[in-house]
Amino acid sequence: MILLDNVSKYYKGDKKPALDEVNLHIQPKEFVFLVGPSGAGKSTLIKMLTREEKPSYGDIMVGGIDYKYMKRRHIPHLRRRIGVVFQDFKLLPNRTVYENVAFALEIVGVSSSEIKRTVPKVLELVGLSDKAHKFPGDLSGGQRQRTAIARSMARQPKILIADEPTGNLDPENSWGIIKLLEEINNFGTTILVTTHDAEVVNQLKKRVITMDNGKIIGDQKVGGRYDLDGSYSRISKRSLGGNASAQPQHIVVPQTQIITTAEAKTEPVAPVEKAPSASGSAVLEQMEKAKAASAAKPVAKRRKFIH
Ligand SMILES: Nc1ncnc2c1ncn2[C@@H]1O[C@H](COP(=O)(O)OP(=O)(O)OP(=O)(O)O)[C@@H](O)[C@H]1O
Ligand SMILES: [Mg+2]
Repeated sequence: MILLDNVSKYYKGDKKPALDEVNLHIQPKEFVFLVGPSGAGKSTLIKMLTREEKPSYGDIMVGGIDYKYMKRRHIPHLRRRIGVVFQDFKLLPNRTVYENVAFALEIVGVSSSEIKRTVPKVLELVGLSDKAHKFPGDLSGGQRQRTAIARSMARQPKILIADEPTGNLDPENSWGIIKLLEEINNFGTTILVTTHDAEVVNQLKKRVITMDNGKIIGDQKVGGRYDLDGSYSRISKRSLGGNASAQPQHIVVPQTQIITTAEAKTEPVAPVEKAPSASGSAVLEQMEKAKAASAAKPVAKRRKFIH
């Protein structure tokens, strides 16, 4: 669960907040698009979640961790719970695809035997098994982003956050990456994606949160559309109170549902330092189950695993 309770962020020297009393609640396993014009505060919100930046005011809880009590030494633990993918991939250029993914596990102390078991599975998840020994420079943009996603997923985070993951990609590769994120979501990972790609948002019809001027101005919980001014949220709110048969297909629950921090504190607070168990991965297990189920079906009906 992701929870922001009245979060504001003033960057040093700024009078206007980059985040202005933001309340947000994202349930486990949701797929959420975060949209809004440039400078709206999307990346700032994401940096709050990854603890790259601290809020000036307000409370944040992610996956049972209350950031108020988080010490520097807890940050590596947080990074295992949250995978992050960026527009510019941030891969190590002198390491192969396999090594880039393995490295993410090495640095958190996963044993080499577990790394050997996990990396091939994650590469299969993202459709890159045949590129394991290529260097990032020899890959297409879409393949680089798949590698970055594999690297984030290797630690089996419960939440995957992607800040404009398709920003550097052509439409075909963008679509492939979004479908991959959808697949990962289907295997049980919460996904939060910022994007400027209206077509992708409109086709997927997921929850769409709109930001402007540091505020959340729209939250279409179901069947959301790309919406920069919150008008779809307003239209839907009006129709929720009016004629039900006239309801648009974009049903919207009024603003964000807020859980008080007192309520939220029933979750464990203090992060526990523990090496992640790669073999216990929900995503990888789900993937293997899906593969087994798909293999059991007649070939003509077999669902393609990676799009
Ligand atoms: N490190 C920083 N220091 C000072 N101000 C910042 C910093 N990062 C962002 N800002 C400011 O905070 C506001 C929100 O920026 P942010 O990067 O969160 O927007 P965004 O919605 O991600 O935009 P884009 O779609 O262009 O990526 C902007 O006014 C920006 O100038
Ligand atoms: Mg941004």
